Amino acid sequence: LLKNGKVTDYEALMIDKEGSQTYCSITAKLVRDRHGNPVKIVGSLRNINERKRAEEQIHALTRELMKSQENERQRISRDLHDNVAQELSAVKIGFETLFDHQPAIPPEIRRRVSEMSRTLQESIKAVRDVSYDLRPPALDEMGLVQTIFQYCHDFSEDNGINVDFHSAGMKNLKLDFDTEINLYRLIQESLTNIKKHAGADHVTIRLVAAFPNIILRIEDNGKGFDVQKRLSTLSEEKRMGIRSMEQRAKLLQGKMEIQSKPMQGTKISITLPYKDNKSGS
Ligand SMILES: Nc1ncnc2c1ncn2[C@@H]1O[C@H](COP(=O)(O)OP(=O)(O)O)[C@@H](O)[C@H]1O
Ligand SMILES: [Mg+2]
Repeated sequence: LLKNGKVTDYEALMIDKEGSQTYCSITAKLVRDRHGNPVKIVGSLRNINERKRAEEQIHALTRELMKSQENERQRISRDLHDNVAQELSAVKIGFETLFDHQPAIPPEIRRRVSEMSRTLQESIKAVRDVSYDLRPPALDEMGLVQTIFQYCHDFSEDNGINVDFHSAGMKNLKLDFDTEINLYRLIQESLTNIKKHAGADHVTIRLVAAFPNIILRIEDNGKGFDVQKRLSTLSEEKRMGIRSMEQRAKLLQGKMEIQSKPMQGTKISITLPYKDNKSGS
């Protein structure tokens, strides 16, 4: 108030003598005399308990939604991997051994069966890829850093976009699963956007533990975009990528910043507080 001369919708938690708490929104102006000395404050104080409660409810709801989305993904991923892919593999082996010890089969039939077997192989790969995308199985086994490393490597190979991944100070952190999966999803969505929109050929990803924060930076050398302009039209267009990234960052009590200008690439920074797995949260 002293610095800017006014505050608008400043949120404060008021605690009275009995200890009961009220969230207030303060909008106020500082009035100065002719010499610039502050003489009085004019303003209003509004009880915003209801608004606060509604915000907390939305927050809790979003968290639950994202959790159940992850659970559902895990279920579908496991079904695809353990049932569909397994059965397709069994059929493929059946095809490959169908004519063993049967010299009288005409070459044309042999050719068609081996063609079907090849198509099956492609289906198996497609199912495995979808399953992998839905739920990175390595997260539990190899840990976050190694899983991201692998993901970036695969992404580079598949899309011809060079992805450099660096991490520092992460090895000894024990992150909870929520944090790990959200960091992974943030990278996944960023790389998807880069592939779809950026026209970049190089990406640098840094994941750094800098106590008390974890910092994730994703930078591409693509064509960039006018962030303010683009963000203001996202809702109408029902585009959810960037907004769901913001939600994820917020769920982890962090924040996300996008810096981009046309022709100058895009830089996304996400900062979250590090929570020790053991201390719970
Ligand atoms: N890395 C990027 N480079 C250039 N433009 C981007 C990048 N990431 C996002 N954008 C722009 O931001 C928009 C919103 O992204 P997003 O919310 O993920 O929606 P969608 O990917 O479905 O279009 C995109 O349509 C694109 O115009
Ligand atoms: Mg997107």
